[in-house]
Amino acid sequence: MSLWLNKLSASVPAGLKQPADTARFELDQAGLIADLKENPSMGDAYRIEQTADGAFTLFGGQTGLLYGAYRLITATLCGEQLPLPYASAPKYALRMINCWDNMDGSVERGYAGQSLFFEDGRVMYSPERMRTLGRLLASAGLNVLCINNVNVHEPAQRLLEDYLPDLAALADLFRPFGVRLMVSVDFSRPMCHGIPTADPLDQAVRAWWKETAARVYAAVPDLAGFLVKADSEGRPGPFTYGRNHADGANMLAEALKPYGGYAVWRCFVYNCRQDWRDTKTDRPKAAWEHYAYLDGSFADNVILQVKHGPFDFQVREPLSPLLLGMKKTKLAMELQLAQEYTGHQIDLYTMIPMWKELFGELPADNIMSVAAVSNLGNDENYTGHPLAAVNLFTYGLLAWDPAVDPAEAVTRWARLTYAFPPKQEQTLVSLLLKTRRVYEKYTAPLGIGWMVTPHDHYGPNPSGYEYDLWGTYHKANRDAVGIDRTHAGTGYLDQYPEEIRIRYENPETCPDLYLLFFHRLPYTFRMKDGRTLIQRIYDDHFEGLEETRAMAAALSGLPFPEPDASVIRGRMDRQLYNAREWCDIINTFFFRLSGIQDEKGRTIYE
Ligand code: GCU
Repeated sequence: MSLWLNKLSASVPAGLKQPADTARFELDQAGLIADLKENPSMGDAYRIEQTADGAFTLFGGQTGLLYGAYRLITATLCGEQLPLPYASAPKYALRMINCWDNMDGSVERGYAGQSLFFEDGRVMYSPERMRTLGRLLASAGLNVLCINNVNVHEPAQRLLEDYLPDLAALADLFRPFGVRLMVSVDFSRPMCHGIPTADPLDQAVRAWWKETAARVYAAVPDLAGFLVKADSEGRPGPFTYGRNHADGANMLAEALKPYGGYAVWRCFVYNCRQDWRDTKTDRPKAAWEHYAYLDGSFADNVILQVKHGPFDFQVREPLSPLLLGMKKTKLAMELQLAQEYTGHQIDLYTMIPMWKELFGELPADNIMSVAAVSNLGNDENYTGHPLAAVNLFTYGLLAWDPAVDPAEAVTRWARLTYAFPPKQEQTLVSLLLKTRRVYEKYTAPLGIGWMVTPHDHYGPNPSGYEYDLWGTYHKANRDAVGIDRTHAGTGYLDQYPEEIRIRYENPETCPDLYLLFFHRLPYTFRMKDGRTLIQRIYDDHFEGLEETRAMAAALSGLPFPEPDASVIRGRMDRQLYNAREWCDIINTFFFRLSGIQDEKGRTIYE
């Protein structure tokens, strides 16, 4: 196993002073559990000082000491000079991982094996692996772990009932690492307990949730809260009763309030039964239409969790307008570490460059938390592809400090994990930082998304979603491609603040990589660099394939230890195959429609 924390756990810097720091760091587990039970919201901030004799002293709350110790150890192992005294506090209060694990042991959109928490309908885990996972999360600065799928199937619907003792035992394992559990709940659950409705304004329903919260918090006093997917892709929710999502979320928030818990309410609500003939409905508009008018009506322990883009974790989407517009509501931005649309942890896809773009668009204090769909599973290396672990680690660094430099974050991970000689480390880091753009080049072009194999979401199928129910259309014909989302088109752009609207409204000023997200354009449209749109599509695809080949060659020269070396080689072979399929199929698709030749005369199959 080559996770970064192998090295982290192995050593404590020589100068770390006893007992305030080392003793804490080694985790006097019993003491820490007691302290955290008394005060679960102790500060994460820390300060590191150095005394005249060269020893380090850590100051902070319990979790602060933990984060400070990891920071110091990381710096020591990476040969980094921390400017002392060094103080740090996280930007976001809840730094969450959402596991989409089912109790049968499967993981929805999981690419690293089976669940780490469940098997055959039971809570089932290796305590040792849980402790490793706790360290893994804490060392990256992450502090909330939602263990079950947002689509809450039987028997996970009974997690807060029959399985509550299991949940309490699991929470005990994570507590020493400052990691609080969270549970996804089913909105209609009261109906399984003799109540004829799940209407959030019904008194019996409200009382049921209050009793449930009381029972749950008696067993797990520091549970971070409930995560809810309601009225989304078939899940039950308040709409059934003519109520809105503030009614639903506030009802849960009221039940959680006495215990300091949060109702984390997802905003992934859209019509997933759309008729492709319907040109009025435009899926990216949906979240805004359901939530923006409710700004200011949510309880203060409700967090609206909003996917970063208005669709669904495509390679390139603009920032969701909800993240910019809801100023009176607590928000969390939802990212996806699981590589659902980004290569299934087979293809390389380092996410921090994308996240930096997203965080760069966010106004300073608009969101208070971040969540990411987990890329973890019970594979020996936890993330399937050993290099996919960079996403978990750097997500943690970014959730702590969104100003972190991507190259620095990736370097820190690479050094902790592999400790290559400088030149090879440099090769690995610059390669990882390129992967997102390379993947983007050989897959769906210029922000259009959705040209993937339906349901599975790996590999190309340019019209797989074209006549489907999911609202994900590109409408390519022989002359043009894309959907006009400007004011004159579907009006989606009207949901943005003015300066963004102005930037995207005109295809001449719209950044190239977003062109087909916002506009419908002819293949002969002249881009800023003088190329036609179709030529840019061909060029990107050929380049993406060539760059993948170059990455494969560079990777093969790096001294990865076994078993990583074999896994990386095997997955790179599959990526090469995938990149070629994407390149040829997308180019052929557009050539057949447009009849326009590649100016450079490269092979496009007819
Ligand atoms: C996507 C994904 C689903 C998931 C959903 C969600 O649609 O494909 O598997 O359930 O997002 O975020 O709830």
